[in-house]
Amino acid sequence: MASHCQPFEEKKNIKQTNDGLSPAIFGSRRLLTHPEKQSTSPPPEKMGERRYTEQEEALEIKSLRRIIAAYANYQDAAERDVKRYERSFKMLPPAHKELLFHLGLKYQRLRWCISMNASFIMNMLEAFEPPFDMSQYVDADPSNLHDHSHMGCTHSSERGDCSIISISRSNLSLDEQHDSPKEDTKTHESSRETDNKKVTPRHCTASLFKLNVPPIDVDKVRCIVRNIVRDWGEEGQKERDECYKPILEELNRLFPNRSDQRPPSCLVPGAGLGRLALEISSLGFVSQGNEFSYYMLICSNFILNHTQEANEWTIYPWIHSNCNSLSDNDQLRPVSFPDIHPSSAGITEGFSMCAGDFVEVYSEESQESAWDAVVTCFFLDTAHNIVEYIEIISKVLKDGGVWINLGPLLYHFADSYGPDDDMSIELSLEDVKKVAYHYGFTMEVEKMIETTYTSNMKAMMQNRYHAAFWTMRKDASRSKACKPR
Ligand SMILES: C[S@@+](CC[C@H](N)C(=O)[O-])C[C@H]1O[C@@H](n2cnc3c(N)ncnc32)[C@H](O)[C@@H]1O
Repeated sequence: MASHCQPFEEKKNIKQTNDGLSPAIFGSRRLLTHPEKQSTSPPPEKMGERRYTEQEEALEIKSLRRIIAAYANYQDAAERDVKRYERSFKMLPPAHKELLFHLGLKYQRLRWCISMNASFIMNMLEAFEPPFDMSQYVDADPSNLHDHSHMGCTHSSERGDCSIISISRSNLSLDEQHDSPKEDTKTHESSRETDNKKVTPRHCTASLFKLNVPPIDVDKVRCIVRNIVRDWGEEGQKERDECYKPILEELNRLFPNRSDQRPPSCLVPGAGLGRLALEISSLGFVSQGNEFSYYMLICSNFILNHTQEANEWTIYPWIHSNCNSLSDNDQLRPVSFPDIHPSSAGITEGFSMCAGDFVEVYSEESQESAWDAVVTCFFLDTAHNIVEYIEIISKVLKDGGVWINLGPLLYHFADSYGPDDDMSIELSLEDVKKVAYHYGFTMEVEKMIETTYTSNMKAMMQNRYHAAFWTMRKDASRSKACKPR
């Protein structure tokens, strides 16, 4: 595995844009995430809304439909795993079965945890307002969900069946008295309430449910669940302290006299679930996260805009692996989130999330010299061409602006093999710095930071990164890059 961000480990079969927003379409689309201002405030710098073709829109809708299907099928896929464990259990000789009798109960508890995770997911889907009319371009053949690579050239403009459906949650009503893995009364109460309701993701067609979504899509949903812990769980505090705190301290040091009237601006490409962008906003910056994955955007939108109170939700993030657990209770432990109420976090006016491909959105002329700071955290190695990322970072920064980076160089496209593979330029840290100097950056702070990414702190295996941290300053007079004529 060559990616620290498994949901976006798009390699052999699926193009990266299937995961999220096709650059051609969402280049200038913005999703404001300021909890109170989403529908009213304009973005800080207005970029022209880009028109897109019917074909592009069809591609986008199909891609989004596939992601919603992955979320919606989370429960079925997870329950299939439990059935697999049960099949293996049944194969045991009687004496071994007797010895491991408690596993039967564990499988019941697992089902209960899965239902709780599914309940959160359904609430999230319910709150999501797709940027498109999802009734369009419904494929007659649901198997097309499995491969979108051809969608650029063939799409159906036929209106399909997109009746609003109710998803019966009756299969969630387990005997909680016995199956609840841990008494967590408050959250369980609210989950029970939800279970009794019919949840109706307005944009979903019945055909999206009960489909065999590709395992890679199911994995992405599971990775999002882990990302929730990183960004919004109390358990994720250690990771946030390792990754986000040094960045926030550096911003604080570099912009000591921040004014409320004219706060400095900071761009966070590859913002994930939005916590770092929110923290930067709370620090007194006009902060903009940029993200192109619908998996991430659907979830961050829900947490940022639809949370009523801290620790409103509880999920069971670690249930999907039986490996490296110290105990079943560790594996089945709950994580409540968000650890803070986002709209009470003291954010600065102008906080926004920009949905779209970094390269596409920030190559726009309107973005030149627009930002006082750019923060990249576990983002640089998502590039097909890291030189292009650095060039754009340099362009969007004002002269004298700063670029703070933290992350490894685990290039996401490094091991795509085959004739029509994605481009991947994989540079050493030394070469990355050379490229940065070429684009007029000077190094001010440089160190290595040990950290993890969406790691299960209680597991017997932890992947640790020696991540590069730096602060570079743009000095336009040093740039050797050709100025555009
Ligand atoms: C490894 S994750 C890091 C997320 C977050 N910065 C963190 O530290 O938790 C990389 C993120 O970059 C996003 N991403 C990758 N390529 C992108 C692009 N070209 N434009 C915008 N976002 C991108 C991915 O969807 C993913 O959310």
